[in-house]
Amino acid sequence: MALYSEKVMDHFRNPRNLGVIEDADGVGEVGNAKCGDIMKMYLKIEDDTIQDVKFETFGCASAIASSSMATELIKGQPVSKAMELTNQAVAEALDGLPDYKLHCSVLAEEAIKSALEDYESKKNKTE
Ligand code: FES
Repeated sequence: MALYSEKVMDHFRNPRNLGVIEDADGVGEVGNAKCGDIMKMYLKIEDDTIQDVKFETFGCASAIASSSMATELIKGQPVSKAMELTNQAVAEALDGLPDYKLHCSVLAEEAIKSALEDYESKKNKTE
């Protein structure tokens, strides 16, 4: 059996929504102390909907694939839905990750949550 599913390989080789949003409404950065990988998410939010999302990931293949898939899962979704995104959903959408690579998808969940929290805190300040 191959270590990674075709979907993981596809999103790793060909990441969706890679990059930076200069005027992002929410930015979140998380890291995993054990492996040293870092993931950064940028959100553009209008009318409580994720209009655009981009990511930068300095990490392993599954971290890159997980961030790419996670951006696809939340793009166009309401903020409340994005908040509910779990690492299991990301891993399932990738047709699974090896057990010892599940923490890479956790990074994607955490990065999105952290960007959403940043958005909420900025919103509360301007209201
Ligand atoms: Fe750390 Fe993948 S090995 S995020």
